[in-house]
Amino acid sequence: MSGLSFWRGGELLALIDDAQPGDMLLDVARFHEVPLHWRCGQGTCGTCAVRIRHAGQPRDVKVGRKERNVLLRAALVDAAQAAQEVWLDTESTPRLACHLPLEDMAWQVLLPDDN
Ligand code: FES
Repeated sequence: MSGLSFWRGGELLALIDDAQPGDMLLDVARFHEVPLHWRCGQGTCGTCAVRIRHAGQPRDVKVGRKERNVLLRAALVDAAQAAQEVWLDTESTPRLACHLPLEDMAWQVLLPDDN
């Protein structure tokens, strides 16, 4: 996989070219010491929420119940969205880095400004 990059507030933080499809986004960020904040690493705290920009958007994406519930508790989605199993994947869609395996396409990972 090429073209995994991490951004905050329009600033490029890291460009990574050795990640592979299937690698967990949080694991890659930790390995490369990207300042992506996290706590539990297990999809329960919501600290690792990010947004992803890629050429395949918009598209439908299936989001698991646990991730939806954590994003709801973190007030990053509303109850109506959390109830939906399939979400519209856009660069505004919050995702949990510890739940998100990389795909075989370039991703721009957008970190929260206050992270
Ligand atoms: S690190 Fe806690 S939800 Fe990802």
